[in-house]
Amino acid sequence: MRAVDVIENKKCGLIHTKEEINFFIDGYLKGKIQDYQMSAWLMAVCLNGLNFDETAYLTEAFVNSGDILHFDGIEGHIADKHSTGGVGDKVTLVLIPILASLGVNCAKLSGRGLGMTGGTIDKLESIPGFNTALSEIDFKNQIKSIGAAISSQTPNLVPADGRIYALRDVTATVDNMSLICASVVSKKIASGADVIVLDVKYGSGAFIKTKEKAKELSDLMIKVGALFNRKIDAVISSMEQPLGKSVGNSLEVIEAIEFLKGHLTYDLYEVTLEIAAKTLILSGIAPDFNAAKKMFDSSILTGAALNKLKEIISYQGGNHNVIDNYGLFDIGEYFVQIKAQSDKGYLESLDALEIAHACKLLGAGREKKSDSVDFGVGCTINKKQGDKVYEGELLMTLYYNDKRRLNDALKHAMSAFKFTSEKVEKKSIIYREN
Ligand code: URA
Repeated sequence: MRAVDVIENKKCGLIHTKEEINFFIDGYLKGKIQDYQMSAWLMAVCLNGLNFDETAYLTEAFVNSGDILHFDGIEGHIADKHSTGGVGDKVTLVLIPILASLGVNCAKLSGRGLGMTGGTIDKLESIPGFNTALSEIDFKNQIKSIGAAISSQTPNLVPADGRIYALRDVTATVDNMSLICASVVSKKIASGADVIVLDVKYGSGAFIKTKEKAKELSDLMIKVGALFNRKIDAVISSMEQPLGKSVGNSLEVIEAIEFLKGHLTYDLYEVTLEIAAKTLILSGIAPDFNAAKKMFDSSILTGAALNKLKEIISYQGGNHNVIDNYGLFDIGEYFVQIKAQSDKGYLESLDALEIAHACKLLGAGREKKSDSVDFGVGCTINKKQGDKVYEGELLMTLYYNDKRRLNDALKHAMSAFKFTSEKVEKKSIIYREN
């Protein structure tokens, strides 16, 4: 078999055999197939697609490209979640302590952010001392002791995805259903969890722009995940506006702590509850949504979830005093407030992508893998879609350290806000089929 023939087949819209897919992925990892050949194949996949069987073969080839974690010796289910990524997405930071405080073992492997703002690992690293690079043994021991650990994915877990994702990012081949499915599902299978809940985002701040496409992706991932004998479900949620009321690494951790103290932001509550309920039901801990909601609310009200977060931070070497002293976080030295210049009526939309651009320009995200992120950069948002806005009211505050790109950032931030005189309904961010 030759790489060029595999590429040619996909270019002509032919269906790959399992052997072709294994040959191509294996050859790439062994250095026999070059980046330019992989890039050509990825583009052919974007143009001509992979069918269900090809997607399943690709996912399996990804899983088998590296180690697979096993949790022998830990009683009960092991849960994991994955978000397809969004702006202000701090769900993991609140979900994992809540679930662990309710008796669910959480083995959370997360990534750094590329493109928009930081990923969960970047956010956690804004906590002084927090170790996000746990060894496999420490990761498992921590789950045994306190029921949860959040660590970065090791390079030998699905190395095929690590290398191919970096290429997709620079060859405009990220937004293909089968490629996203293989990337996401393989990581979750290899991470050893037997209960998996996916958060599939759609909208301006997500890879997937429409709810119909998000539904298609979610169905595909559930079907492929089930082939590996995992309990798997998905939540579909909108990412038209940033999630919660902050974007940026330190600011999002602070919002997560506030949430666990009972200062809830509604959209963050909605999506976290939905994912938690599905996890609790699949783990056999809650019989239905209502029971799960009661457990979820009580874990916040009693402070159990906040204590669990404290425990996770301490266990991973972080300074748990951040919970009561936000001054320990690195927050931008300067800030600028954006206020309404006149009575604006209602906020019709708040474009997540524009907000992400503003934060990224100031240093909250990365342009390339080797860039570092500025934990202190970000914004807090005072008005969300549907809110009435009067002259002089604060819309948002941008925090920054380096003002070189401030003017551009401000332009993006201001253009995120669209107003209307008509009353705007506040919509649920969860997509449900009737
Ligand atoms: N998140 C992933 O992990 N992989 C993708 O391909 C897209 C989003």
